[in-house]
Amino acid sequence: ACGTTPEQRPTGLDFAPVAPNELDEVVVPEGYRQAVVIRWGDPLFPDAPEFDFDRQAAAAQARQFGFNCDFAALLPLDATGREQLLVTNHEYTSEQFMFRGYDEEDPTREQVEVAWAAHGLSVLLVEQDGDGRLTPRFSDRNRRITATTPFRLTGPAAGSDLLKTSADPTGTLVLGTLNNCAGGVTPWGTILSGEENFHQYFANAERLGDPRLARYGLTGAATDRKWERFDRRFDLAREPNEANRFGYVVELDPHDPGSTPVKHTALGRFKHECANVRVTRDGRVVAYSGDDERFEYIYKFISDRKLRRGDSRSARRHNTTLLDEGTLYVARFSGDSPAGEVGGSGATPSDGRFDGSGEWVPLASGDRSFVPGMTAEEVCVFTRLAADAVGATKMDRPEDIQTHPHTGVVYCALSNNVDRGEDGEEGATEPNPRVANKHGQVLELTDRGGDPLSLAFSWNLMLVCGDPASPDTYFAGYDKSRVSPISSPDNVAFDRHGNLWISSDSDGALNGYNDGLYAVPVSGGERGHLKAFLTVPRGAETCGPVIGERVVTVCVQHPGEVDGASADAPASHWPDGGDSPPRPSVVAVWRPGHRIGE
Ligand code: FEO
Ligand code: CA
Ligand code: CA
Ligand code: CA
Repeated sequence: ACGTTPEQRPTGLDFAPVAPNELDEVVVPEGYRQAVVIRWGDPLFPDAPEFDFDRQAAAAQARQFGFNCDFAALLPLDATGREQLLVTNHEYTSEQFMFRGYDEEDPTREQVEVAWAAHGLSVLLVEQDGDGRLTPRFSDRNRRITATTPFRLTGPAAGSDLLKTSADPTGTLVLGTLNNCAGGVTPWGTILSGEENFHQYFANAERLGDPRLARYGLTGAATDRKWERFDRRFDLAREPNEANRFGYVVELDPHDPGSTPVKHTALGRFKHECANVRVTRDGRVVAYSGDDERFEYIYKFISDRKLRRGDSRSARRHNTTLLDEGTLYVARFSGDSPAGEVGGSGATPSDGRFDGSGEWVPLASGDRSFVPGMTAEEVCVFTRLAADAVGATKMDRPEDIQTHPHTGVVYCALSNNVDRGEDGEEGATEPNPRVANKHGQVLELTDRGGDPLSLAFSWNLMLVCGDPASPDTYFAGYDKSRVSPISSPDNVAFDRHGNLWISSDSDGALNGYNDGLYAVPVSGGERGHLKAFLTVPRGAETCGPVIGERVVTVCVQHPGEVDGASADAPASHWPDGGDSPPRPSVVAVWRPGHRIGE
């Protein structure tokens, strides 16, 4: 890093950036090695068959790694870190990439049941060698959660009439989790996972004519996947409340393979990208979560009760109830730049920064609602309507949110929003400063005094993404001739030095370049110096980054997902090569004899 003194040089980012490309491979910096850890269809149990693309069966898929891995976590089982649990979300299925000759008008029951089994989460034991390389192992910890695994509903709306169905008159027991996007690791060792675009699984909402459903995109008749033909619960005309049982933050204890995962209604129901927890000075916990859709909101939950330290069974049981009692808030932002300066071009305002202040507005706490005309149960189930009612700030697709491990500053990826400023839609605002926003921005939010219990905050944009040659981009004031281009930030993570790592999901929005994983210092003279650490194959998004001391892992989701492609005409042959159809997979990257970035 010429031009900076050694004192200013960031630790852990000593690698030459990967150049933008359109290759059908994972590209890593010189000196680094990479390998697939686990692919869609790989067996997780000794009794599971090897994957056979042309002979798939639901019973096999339920014992194999699922499709479209998104979030990933690595949980060390002891201080050495030699054995770790790799926990992965499987966001959605794309049947045209899963089955040759797939007829979307007439899927078979077996195909539909394969898709149910390919959703959910996987827990897999992996072994790490001294270099950082990860090898999957069969273990009694390994587990598959699918679209039919029982979940318990908890929190204020559990048992509500809004959640009762003919199969579950108690309104407390749901089969399955769907569209699990990003997630988080709790301080007590469990996994949180966000149910995101759940609307796409439910048919015939139009027959109910309920505006509360439409607010979640539940409209229309038949679904693309036609699951409603095979299980009546996916037909809202027959089970009008079933969709109310999806769209939550779910919690799984991967250390207890027999445990029943839960859905936390206290954190609200929306298209949860994720939830990430921070412990406050007084021992309570705060969870931040984004609602990933154009013009949606950022939320925060503050627990009533305190974390119990230690790893005892009773501490664990107590801690897994922390997200059931507390107060849910939504963010309202204001900008501080002179009126008229944030007009949609994205040019930096005269005060030099996109920044301002904001407040967390309460929505519900236990049985108490702060929203006129809505009960607390209604706030928990129709949270978007509650946030509308209190005038929350419409953001450009809030994706992952993480708190900086040293400073407590909260980082949120705002992925993009091509509808901003379009017909009848809200125009540019200081936190969302570009109309027709194709490339997104990264927000820094600081609760007052660095205290997550505070209901006031300041904020600023750290990155306004895109082609650095374009005047509407901003890289924290850093020399833009030296940064990597990035579009559509999605997941955020930190390494042990406090550098920010960002994965992208751009759908080729930036010159057709492949997506990647980027790293950037957030402080010091190199703040804003963003560098691409890896890129993923054609059509894939990069997700679930975990930045370890010796290994970086990413999920390569939907390789080959480009217009017109299918299993019969693949646009990618990664990772198996030849003329094989692509397979979503987890990849590990390491550098023998070195720590990451050193
Ligand atoms: Fe599934 Fe918000 O990305
Ligand atoms: Ca400003
Ligand atoms: Ca995402
Ligand atoms: Ca995304």
